[in-house]
Amino acid sequence: MINVVVCGALGRMGQTIGRMVAESPDLNLVGGIDLKPGTFFGAEIVEAKNMGTLLDAQNPDVMIDFTIASAAVGNVQEAARHKVALVVGTTGISPEQRALMATAIEGNVPAVFSTNYSVGVNIFWQLVRNAGKLLKDYDIEVIEAHHRNKKDAPSGTAKTILQILDEEVGSRKKQYGREGITERADEIGVHVIRGGDIVGDHTVSFSKNFETIELSHRAYDRSVFASGALRAAHWVVGKKPGMYAMSDVLGL
Ligand SMILES: NC(=O)c1ccc[n+]([C@@H]2O[C@H](COP(=O)([O-])OP(=O)(O)OC[C@H]3O[C@@H](n4cnc5c(N)ncnc54)[C@H](O)[C@@H]3O)[C@@H](O)[C@H]2O)c1
Repeated sequence: MINVVVCGALGRMGQTIGRMVAESPDLNLVGGIDLKPGTFFGAEIVEAKNMGTLLDAQNPDVMIDFTIASAAVGNVQEAARHKVALVVGTTGISPEQRALMATAIEGNVPAVFSTNYSVGVNIFWQLVRNAGKLLKDYDIEVIEAHHRNKKDAPSGTAKTILQILDEEVGSRKKQYGREGITERADEIGVHVIRGGDIVGDHTVSFSKNFETIELSHRAYDRSVFASGALRAAHWVVGKKPGMYAMSDVLGL
C-alpha cells in the first residue's frame, strides 16, 4: 500500500485526485493540505502551516502537489526535508522557482514534474515534436482554452508546446495575441481563451499557402490528469532521487 498526501486538497484537482486515491485499491489517502483545515474522502486536511506536523505523523510515501507556483516551492522543500517522494502538477512555475525546487530535490527524493499528466497530452506533445521537425517552414500558432478560474496564462501545457517547438523549429519570437495593423514576422502566435468550465483544449496549427495542418487535444474531465498523476505516484516511490518527467513514467 502506498500512503499519499495531497497538497491543494480543496482545489479542483485536489478533490479529483483525493477521490481517485481513496477509490484506489493500492493507494491509501493519509491526509491533505490546503489553506483551510477540513476533511476529504475520509482523510484530514491540515492548514499549510501545519504541513510538517502532518508529514511527521503520517510518514507518507508520496505527496502530490496541485496548488499554485508560489506555494509549490515551499511545499516541495518541506516534502524533500521529510524524504517524501513527489508528484508535482502545479503550473506557472518560473525558472527561478524550478531551480529552488531542484536544489531541494537533488540527492534527497525522487520527484516527477509535468505541466500535464494526461497520457493523451504526453502523446500529443510527441506528435507536435514530429510535426515541428517536418514543418519548420510553416507559420505556427498555438491556441489554448481553459475554464474562467484558471490563474496562469498561457497554460503550462502550452508553454511545454512552445518549448518543444523551440527545440524542433528553432527559437522564434512568441507573439501573445494581435491587435491593430500587424505584419506576421518570424514568430509563433500564442492565443489564450478563458471561459466557463472548459477543462483544457490545445491546438497547434501549421499553415502554408493553400493548406493548414492542425493538431488538437481536448480534455473532457479532470480525471485524465488525476489518473496520470496517480500513475506517476505509483512509479516514483522507490526511484533514485532526482527530477523526472511524465515521459519517464510512460517510457516514451
Ligand atoms: N499538470 C497537470 O496535469 C495539471 C492539470 C490541471 C491543473 N494543473 C495545475 O494544478 C494547479 C491547481 O489547479 P486547480 O484547478 O486544482 O486550482 P484550484 O485553484 O482549484 O486549487 C488550488 C488549491 O491549492 C490551494 N493552496 C494554495 N496555497 C496552498 C498552500 N500553500 N498549501 C496547500 N494548498 C494551497 C488553494 O487553496 C486551492 O484549494 C494549477 O497550477 C493548474 O494549472 C495541472
